[in-house]
Amino acid sequence: MGKGSRRAVTAAHGRPLTGDVRVPGDKSISHRALMMGALAVGRSHVTGLLMGEDVMATAAAMRALGATVTVRGSDVAIDGAGLGALAEPSSPLDFGNAGTGARLTMGLVAGHPIAATFVGDASLSRRPMGRVLEPLREMGATVAARTGDRLPLTLRGPDSLVPIAYTLPVASAQVKSAILLAGLNTPGETTVIEPVPTRDHTERMLAAFGARVRRERTGAGLAITVEGQHPLAPTDVVVPADPSSAAFVVVAALIVPGSEVVVRDVLLNPSRTGLFTTLLEMGADLAVEDERDAGGERIGDVRVRASRLSGVSVPAERTPSMIDEYPVLAVAAAFAEGSTTMAGLSELRVKESDRLAAIARGLEANGVAHEVGEDWLRVAGRGGGAIGRGHVATQLDHRIAMSFLVLGLAADEPVTVDDGAMIETSFPGFVDAMRGLGGEVIVHEGELVA
Ligand code: S3P
Repeated sequence: MGKGSRRAVTAAHGRPLTGDVRVPGDKSISHRALMMGALAVGRSHVTGLLMGEDVMATAAAMRALGATVTVRGSDVAIDGAGLGALAEPSSPLDFGNAGTGARLTMGLVAGHPIAATFVGDASLSRRPMGRVLEPLREMGATVAARTGDRLPLTLRGPDSLVPIAYTLPVASAQVKSAILLAGLNTPGETTVIEPVPTRDHTERMLAAFGARVRRERTGAGLAITVEGQHPLAPTDVVVPADPSSAAFVVVAALIVPGSEVVVRDVLLNPSRTGLFTTLLEMGADLAVEDERDAGGERIGDVRVRASRLSGVSVPAERTPSMIDEYPVLAVAAAFAEGSTTMAGLSELRVKESDRLAAIARGLEANGVAHEVGEDWLRVAGRGGGAIGRGHVATQLDHRIAMSFLVLGLAADEPVTVDDGAMIETSFPGFVDAMRGLGGEVIVHEGELVA
């Protein structure tokens, strides 16, 4: 499956899922490795890069900005252009479906005296960019964007940015990262204060590339400061397996009776493991084995066995550490005894789709009782009723597609998603990985009409 080939996909209940799997590299770390490699002078190596469409769009953007990116399998060499030396791209940067790629690259471009035009697919063109553009404008960048600060837009960095101290109005690692990346080529100190901690891969990787970055706890939250205009040194990055992709395998193994699966080398950074915490609270038989350090991050093998799950209440404070995992948590909740309540979900409204609405529609299509509010969701556990048989609208959202296919692997009746092509953005090989574990997944030629 790939871009331009819309294909319906069906998943059906078959035998238990068993075996070992390694899901592709972490998407957040992959984007950042390409960007920081492009800013370093000299050659950086990345092992285990996610070869999904989102990350490939970032690789193309880094080439257009003057870096040389050589891909051999999932091992990648980046010859950086150097901090302050990014070139003006001669054509628009097309980020496809990738919010992280687009928003973080806006920070890079703002920090250079160049102009770049950003374009994306229908999903990305609907998503708000103002959250990143507002602080970048405060630093001195100028932007011509479509109404509501949507793509396409053209961003121009001035000769020199002005450092700012910015308190994040939304808990967003993308906004934090865009500002810090802009701060790299800004004289003086640029600070981002996050009242609620978000994934910290940018800070960690900046330190690994030799940037001057520090973290301090303040009354207002965690303050991350980058001292600008210090060159980055080329570095080797090992990309662990993406916990947000592992999530689909883990939930599938929990809800398909008799399953036992090991997911290898999963990133266990605490800013990413909220789903595992929640599943353990629900009674999941889930254990981390061989926990170890790899390339500056904690990783481990996650062993999971089919379990009787109980409904829980997921606190709003946990949202940033599992922001991408709510669709698949909703699927796990459908198979639990009792209801599961999830709070603090307003950010789901501005993901690849209005994810909260897409989850609710998918549950509805499959006969799963639920209630949804502006920023919360309550899923009534199955309690014995038959579920499945749904036709689910993917809405250009890879995580909606994969979540409802996981539901189909355990449901009484098969589940079909209208378009599996978007899965390629983050989890190439998803269908094969599920089949390899014993799952019944059928890719149809073309679309099916419900
Ligand atoms: C990401 C941050 C999150 C997440 C996205 C990846 C990142 O987005 O949903 O998939 O790599 O920084 P927000 O920053 O919008 O919360």
